[in-house]
Amino acid sequence: MSDAQLFEKSEALNSEDLLRAIFEQMPSVPACLTCSFQAEDMIVLSLLRQRLPNVPVLFLETGYHFADTYRFRDQVTRDWKLNLVNVVQQTTVQQQEATFGILHQIDPAKCCQLRKVEPLMESLEPFDLWFTGLRREQSPTRRNLKKIERHRLPSGKTLLKISLLADWSWAQVWEFTGKHQLAYLPQYDRGYLSIGCEPCTAIPTSGADARSGRWGGKKLECGMHTFSEKTDG
Ligand code: ADX
Ligand code: SF4
Repeated sequence: MSDAQLFEKSEALNSEDLLRAIFEQMPSVPACLTCSFQAEDMIVLSLLRQRLPNVPVLFLETGYHFADTYRFRDQVTRDWKLNLVNVVQQTTVQQQEATFGILHQIDPAKCCQLRKVEPLMESLEPFDLWFTGLRREQSPTRRNLKKIERHRLPSGKTLLKISLLADWSWAQVWEFTGKHQLAYLPQYDRGYLSIGCEPCTAIPTSGADARSGRWGGKKLECGMHTFSEKTDG
């Protein structure tokens, strides 16, 4: 099967069949998952680790996560013996704040660029498959997401970005989490529906828009899903 055929076929496959098809076609291609330990990421991780127990789990350690998120990350890492890769910036939070002020308040785009996007670009370089927990339902900016997309990094390198849950609803995410008794971040029990850095995450005002609590509704994306260029096939 050509890549183009796989891309097309992928839209009709469920997550597990898609994963099987990908690894049948590309059995030993270097793969990673970007993981913020939200419910979607836990599902992708639970599926992926059945095939690749040692898959690199890239966590963008911005220095601004909830204490609960760090605790949860560490617990899951121990319980599942994960190959966790903390992607850390050269500039600490203290250095950044001393140089630029509190960027998440005055210029969140720059803060995300420095603490997420630039470190991510570099950390994706060794991989040909990039798994995410993205879903179309999450945002208008994700509405056209395909389960498999070819992306070009600023270096020119291309890789396949794979979103096994692209067509899942939040109800399906929660049902799978319960059915498979997956652990979940404790913030969900407090009403959070989309969980990122603490200063930029609030309980959503509208249950209908899970991401309305991110960046005070002022922006929709941090840039990590918009910096790479989607290419054809
Ligand atoms: S974000 O761009 O607004 O932060 P979101 O929280 O919806 O993204 O998560 C979507 C996907 O982005 C996750 O499934 C995961 O692949 C990736 N992601 C988001 N935040 C992180 C993080 N801190 N570390 C690693 N991956 C992340
Ligand atoms: Fe900074 Fe907020 Fe972006 Fe985190 S989400 S990197 S704190 S602006």
